[in-house]
Amino acid sequence: MNKPVRKAVLPVAGLGTRFLPATKCMPKEMLPVVDKPLIQYAIEEAEAAGIEKFILITGRGKNLMEDHFDHAFELERILEKRGKKAELELVQQFPEPSMIQYTRQQQALGLGHAVWCAKDFVHDEPFAVLLPDDMVLAEKGCLAQMMDAYNEVGGNIVAVTEVPREQTNRYGILDIESDDGKLAKATGLVEKPDPADAPSTLSIIGRYILQPDVFEHLDKQIAGAGGEIQLTDAIAATLDRVPFHGLRYEGTRYDCGSKSGFIAANVAYALERPDMADDVRAALKDILD
Ligand code: G1P
Repeated sequence: MNKPVRKAVLPVAGLGTRFLPATKCMPKEMLPVVDKPLIQYAIEEAEAAGIEKFILITGRGKNLMEDHFDHAFELERILEKRGKKAELELVQQFPEPSMIQYTRQQQALGLGHAVWCAKDFVHDEPFAVLLPDDMVLAEKGCLAQMMDAYNEVGGNIVAVTEVPREQTNRYGILDIESDDGKLAKATGLVEKPDPADAPSTLSIIGRYILQPDVFEHLDKQIAGAGGEIQLTDAIAATLDRVPFHGLRYEGTRYDCGSKSGFIAANVAYALERPDMADDVRAALKDILD
């Protein structure tokens, strides 16, 4: 039996320079898709997959997220007084204090370093990593789909999707040994390879289930691609002893780290909402006609 995955690490220390000036004072993870911040989607996806404990790897200027996952007494009192029950419920949806922790990544040394900051939290258990920038609109959440795969094959699992070859230098790319069209068993992975050198076009999106073995490599603090400590390298370092699979999830991925991806996510999520789908569809038609 594979050890259950109860903990999730959410690296949220990035500066969000692509969204300036919106992110001058506000963490990019607080940008809303429709009416909910990116970080809340990630937490809810993880909760739906059975995650019980979260750690957010934050940095300077990220305190707003702690406020978001806490009571807003004044607001709650006003909503209560005005009888706004539904709104009150919305602002009271956050994990219990014992479920959520925060620690700071004091230097921007890369994704691997951000995950390493959670070492004591993770301890010796398998854990999930979710990058809130990557959203997957799906009937069953992406991480929940990965949990199903994990229960079958164990080891390290990443969510993967095919990208055009000219984009391999933006992602971690898998070297595939066998592939049943859904689950690909990999013998290697490389961070942001040039299109000419990429072993495949199967790329990692921001969802991982990892064994604590990755910390052995992360402890060494070795810089990889782009001079950053890479999570990809830490997974690669365990390939000789930890099985590694890429799961082609069902659903549509939106790269909310890019402006066009973020806009597309807003439209797609709005069209899923019965309370506004018709209005949004009509507005889009007006714009496009
Ligand atoms: C990170 C990872 C990369 C992965 C990507 C998914 O890169 O290092 O392997 O493919 O997230 O979004 P970043 O986008 O932080 O440069």
